[in-house]
Amino acid sequence: MCGITGYIGYRKAYPIIIQGLQRLEYRGYDSAGIVLYDGKDINLSKTKGKVSDLQAKIKNDISVKGNIGFGHTRWATHGVPNHINSHPHLSQSKNLVIVHNGIIENYDTLKKELVSRGYHFHSDTDTEVLINLIEEIKTQEKCKLGKAVQLALNQVIGAYAILVFDKKKPDELIVAKLGSPIAMGIGKNNKEFFIASDATPFIEYTKDAIYLEDGEMAIVKLDREIRIYKINDDQLVKDPKIEQLELSLEQIEKGGFDHFMLKEIYEQPNAIIDTYRGRLLPDESIIKMSGIDDNIERFLNAKRIIIVACGTSWHAGLVAEYLFEDIARIPVEVEYGSEFRYRNPIITENDIVIAISQSGETADTLAAVKLAKSQGAFVYGVCNVVGSSIAREVHAGTYTHAGPEIGVASTKAFTTQITVLALLALKLGKKKGHISAPNFQVYLQELIQIPKKIKLLLEKDEHIKKIAAIYKEVPNFLYLGRGYNFPVALEGALKLKEISYIHAEGYPAAEMKHGPIALIDDNMPVVVIATRQGHYEKVVSNIQEIKSRHGKIIGIVSEGDSVVKGIADHIIEVPETLEAFTPLLTTIPLQLLSYHIAVMRDCNVDQPRNLAKAVTVE
Ligand code: M6R
Repeated sequence: MCGITGYIGYRKAYPIIIQGLQRLEYRGYDSAGIVLYDGKDINLSKTKGKVSDLQAKIKNDISVKGNIGFGHTRWATHGVPNHINSHPHLSQSKNLVIVHNGIIENYDTLKKELVSRGYHFHSDTDTEVLINLIEEIKTQEKCKLGKAVQLALNQVIGAYAILVFDKKKPDELIVAKLGSPIAMGIGKNNKEFFIASDATPFIEYTKDAIYLEDGEMAIVKLDREIRIYKINDDQLVKDPKIEQLELSLEQIEKGGFDHFMLKEIYEQPNAIIDTYRGRLLPDESIIKMSGIDDNIERFLNAKRIIIVACGTSWHAGLVAEYLFEDIARIPVEVEYGSEFRYRNPIITENDIVIAISQSGETADTLAAVKLAKSQGAFVYGVCNVVGSSIAREVHAGTYTHAGPEIGVASTKAFTTQITVLALLALKLGKKKGHISAPNFQVYLQELIQIPKKIKLLLEKDEHIKKIAAIYKEVPNFLYLGRGYNFPVALEGALKLKEISYIHAEGYPAAEMKHGPIALIDDNMPVVVIATRQGHYEKVVSNIQEIKSRHGKIIGIVSEGDSVVKGIADHIIEVPETLEAFTPLLTTIPLQLLSYHIAVMRDCNVDQPRNLAKAVTVE
């Protein structure tokens, strides 16, 4: 998965492309490259490293003149991240150039064929194979670039979003998509066009965007128009839908915070309000969710809910398992998208499959959605990114409306996903008669209080920072929780390992004695979620067991707790709430703890090593 962005118009392309790449770095950042056409020559520069490394290199490298060009920020799939494997890639004649996000699965077969026809390859990438395949077809068929791209893509197995330029036809860019996202911004009077993996690179220039659908190719003509064709049969797509972007520049900038992650942690009170706004209506004692209302019979008749997701979204799915079983009394199974798609699962028409994904682009979750659909299940999406692939693929769904999440570590995505899933469970619980009207009101009133309670928790940031300073050098961490807070323990551990590179594990508290307790010594910090609601006494016993083996306890406790306070080395108090909503609070101190530890260890919090925001490859 990578970020690609391009420009064709009357402005200087270079600053637009560089800024666009910086905004897309969340998609990958192990190497970067750019190509610009100055009216005569193709100028190409690329390097291992980040966009800032590319900028430094370009200064002594190439002319940055030109109104046409594109760039790429990479997360390596084929070939190690180095300058040679970075994109863009030139064809053998050096007339054609390409950037690509995705994977060409049959690249080896295609490469052998091209080698037999005299092609030489410089990189280990599948992308260099594709650009030479396009060149070979263009030469053999004596056709236009668009036609050659189309014919080449019909030979390709895999996923792609590509941008292609031909020096001999310098007034157009070719864009194509299958499986990887691509958006095209339309400038005023069709005088300029922007192309990017998402709309963030061009939001200050235009709000009009077309999202290419899978299997479509666009010919973007300077000063003229965008024409879209089906890749498999050349059919022109008439009146493609122009969407109005709701993103603002402010939303994708740091707004005074040192890192996007911290900004996003602090955005959670408002993000949750945005999630339930217009849906949670306490005065009318209802929860309005059109995706459910329009399909209510399917939900009421569902024999089972299967949740598919990856990473943090999978943890939100685990919280939802408790919510749906507890409140709506519907059996739930929670699956990793990557496992579900390959294990011949039993799916029936009475199943509802809920796909949870912040980006809406996670390849494994998307594949699980397609599989479930093909076997007759009703598929519901809980996504953040509007118009994303999963959001488009599902039968119905609810957006979390968390706003753009740029930090690679998911924070507000998690709490807003839980908010949507709680609304869903409450709505179904009420419809199915498992919650009384007064009890339903209690839930609604309490959910409305959550943003205020998160704000109170954020005021404990300095206290959490002091705890972080004590443990910033340890090699391992354990996180324990029970019931609704077991998934929070998993999420706390994931947050810490992904941004600070400290090894961390999450466990159900009672499982300690079945093995992990052997790890406890005086150098092992254990974060224990021990709120008053939910197996409190049992968790307190687990804390005693750790303490008696000299482990260091960081207790996440309810306000006013005195029992854990007497045993733990540190406590972080969270406001009281209903047990079902505790994950919305207990997760906040864990996010802050990992954030501060990572900053103190001098880690790149927003762009941790080896990771990318949206995992659009298997
Ligand atoms: O966009 P998605 O929610 O589908 O992404 C799923 C995971 O890749 C994601 O949650 C990942 O685990 C995050 N880095 C966790 O912070």
